[in-house]
Amino acid sequence: MSAPRPRYILGIDTSCDDTGVGVVELLLGGGVQVRANRVWSQTVHAQYGGVMPELASREHVERIDAVMGDALADAGLRVEDIGAVATTSGPGLMGALLVGLMYGKGLAQALDVPFYAAHHLEGHIYAAASEAELRAPYLALVVSGGHTHLFDVPREGEYVLVGATRDDAAGEAFDKIARLAGLGYPGGPAISEAATRGNPDAVPFKEPLQGQKGFDFSFSGLKTAALLAHKAGATPEDLAAGFERAAVRVLVKTALRAAQAYGRETVVVSGGVAANRALRKAFAASPVRAVFPGKGLNTDNGAMIALAGAAAIQAGRLPSSLTEGAVAYAPLANPQP
Ligand code: KG4
Ligand code: ZN
Repeated sequence: MSAPRPRYILGIDTSCDDTGVGVVELLLGGGVQVRANRVWSQTVHAQYGGVMPELASREHVERIDAVMGDALADAGLRVEDIGAVATTSGPGLMGALLVGLMYGKGLAQALDVPFYAAHHLEGHIYAAASEAELRAPYLALVVSGGHTHLFDVPREGEYVLVGATRDDAAGEAFDKIARLAGLGYPGGPAISEAATRGNPDAVPFKEPLQGQKGFDFSFSGLKTAALLAHKAGATPEDLAAGFERAAVRVLVKTALRAAQAYGRETVVVSGGVAANRALRKAFAASPVRAVFPGKGLNTDNGAMIALAGAAAIQAGRLPSSLTEGAVAYAPLANPQP
């Protein structure tokens, strides 16, 4: 006899510097609903100007219990109500990943419920399942601090990499240009806010990889242009406005070209940069159906991992083994030949 379908799925992400625990409910009609999404964003790294892996691991160890307690309280559940546990197993910082993975596996074993190891990028994509049912085929654009990937998803769970950044990730470019302009960290929201007060035509930003046939991205040229303009005295607001417009244009244009080439009508846009208002507006005005994650689900979190676990359960995938290890480098798909 097969096991009953779990109702509440707990998701854990500790891949970088956010301790995230979320809970989703698998509804009887087949839908999913986010019941809780708690994220502890580590601030200890700010003084170093970048994430310190060992400190990240230690903070995850110290915080994860409390974050889970808060998530369960938000959902109005006891830990025994959890019917399945999903946890990011990669990619990410090895020590940081291990904290969540050991915690998730231990919890699943103690509760005697199925355990699902989840891919961090698949989690980002499934974050959008909070807003609309994700039904393949579709195109998925993952734009975060560490990733800029464009996937074709011809069938549920199948990912074909059609483009990626050749240098910096989109969010990384927002962060670096914000730092250069003295706008603070994280750079995405800071750039977005400053851009509303700037003139996007003041600083010329040339579109990267213009004329390419493929669907790759590049942000290093925009970074250099920003540096030169900064040295020439451009204001932070003008820099922000010009850069944001250029970055949004290149992301949307490339995704639209790929959607047309692959015959896809839906583009799922996720990852931290998907929180960007200008990006959302540009996709909304485009001919594709763009689906974004709900509030609080763009940047790293545990609910997106619970949503990926829910999708695995709905697709009838078998649970992962409790011997599943963490993987620092784990491509979601192989590059096309
Ligand atoms: O998904 P995420 O939490 O981290 C990774 O998995 O890498 O994304 C964080 C990134 C940061 O680079 C941050 O600057 C960017 O997302 N970000 C934004 C916005 N909010 C966050 N970028 C542009 N506009 C935003 N509103
Ligand atoms: Zn992420």
